[in-house]
Amino acid sequence: MNKKSLRIIDLRSDTVTKPSGAMREVMMTAEVGDDVFGEDPTINLLQDKAADLFDMESALFVPSGTMANEIAIKVHTNPGDEVITDCLSHIVHFESGAPGLLSGINLLSIQTPNGIITAEQIEKALRPDRIAYPHNSLISLENTHNYGGGAIFPLSEIKRISSLAKRKSLRLHLDGARIFNAMAVTGIKPGEYSQHFDSVMFCLSKGLGAPVGSLLMGSKDFVDAARRYRKMFGGGMRQIGMLGAAGIYALDNNVERLNEDHKNAKLLAEAFQSTLLFELNTGLVETNIVIAGIADRNTSPQEAAARLEENGILVFPFGDNSIRAVTHLDISNEDIEDACERIKRHF
Ligand SMILES: Cc1ncc(COP(=O)(O)O)c(C=O)c1O
Repeated sequence: MNKKSLRIIDLRSDTVTKPSGAMREVMMTAEVGDDVFGEDPTINLLQDKAADLFDMESALFVPSGTMANEIAIKVHTNPGDEVITDCLSHIVHFESGAPGLLSGINLLSIQTPNGIITAEQIEKALRPDRIAYPHNSLISLENTHNYGGGAIFPLSEIKRISSLAKRKSLRLHLDGARIFNAMAVTGIKPGEYSQHFDSVMFCLSKGLGAPVGSLLMGSKDFVDAARRYRKMFGGGMRQIGMLGAAGIYALDNNVERLNEDHKNAKLLAEAFQSTLLFELNTGLVETNIVIAGIADRNTSPQEAAARLEENGILVFPFGDNSIRAVTHLDISNEDIEDACERIKRHF
C-alpha cells in the first residue's frame, strides 16, 4: 500500500474528537449571558440537567476535568492534609503537581495494578490521629480508570469505601471523567453512583465528543464554594452558552452510543493480541481504552508507537512497556476494521 495515501486513524485519546456539524449548529444559536454573574441561560440549563441526571443538589460547569478535580480537592481539604488515592490516578500523574501547589496537600497513593483500590487498603493506609501525622480528609477514586486501562470501579467496592469514609469522617470525591463509559457497560444509573460521593465530576470533552468542559457536582454548599475557587483559579468565563449547548447536545446524543466504542476496543485488543510484537489479556479491556504490552523487550513504547504511525495508526507510548489506544466517537467500526487489518498484517 502507498503509505502516503494511508488514512490516519487517531487512537491517541478520546479527547481528539471534533464537534460534529449538528453539534456546531446548536452552538451557533445558543443563548448566552455572563456566566460569572450566573446569567448564561444555556450554562444554567446544562448545570441543572447534570444535577438532575446525577441526583445531586447542584452542578458547576468548569473548563476542564483537571480544574474540576483541583477545585474539589481545594474545597474538601486544608493545607497540610493528605488525600488518599491510587498510585495510577490522574490527580497523581497528569495534573502537573497541582494538588501540592493549589491546595498544599500531600497525596498518599495506594499501590494497585489497575487503579481499583479497596476499602481494606484505604483503612490500612489511614493515619493515626497523632500530631506528627498529616490529617486525612479526602479519598479520591477514578471511574473508569484511565491509567488502569479503562477499568470499571465496582459499585460494591465504592459502597464499602463510602461507608468507611463516613465512619472516619472523610470526604469522598469521584473523578468520573469517563463515568458514562462505566454506566454504558454496567447499566448502573448515575444516581446509584453519585449517592456515595460528596462530589462527582464528569467530562463532556472525552467520549461524549464536546469540545470543552466538565461538570462538578455536589451539595449546594459544596458548589457555592467551588464557584468561588473556579473564579480564583481563573476558570470564571463569560458568554459561554455555546459550550453549554455543545454539552447539552453531547448528553442528549452521544451517551447511548458509547458501547460501540467498547465493542471497537475489544476488536482492537484482539488484533493486538494476535501479533508477535504486542501482548495483552483481552478480558481486561472493559471499556474504550486498550493498553497493549510490548512482548519484544528490545522495542521501546516510543518505537512501537512510531511503527504504528508508519502504518497510519496513532497511539500513545504508555509507561515502561506498553502503548495505549483509545476508541471514540470519531472512529467508526470501519476505521477499526481497517486498523485491525493493518495491525495483523504488519506486526
Ligand atoms: C481520568 C481523568 N481525569 C481527569 C482528566 C482531566 O481532564 P482534562 O483533560 O479536561 O483536564 C482526564 C483527562 O484525560 C482523565 O483521563
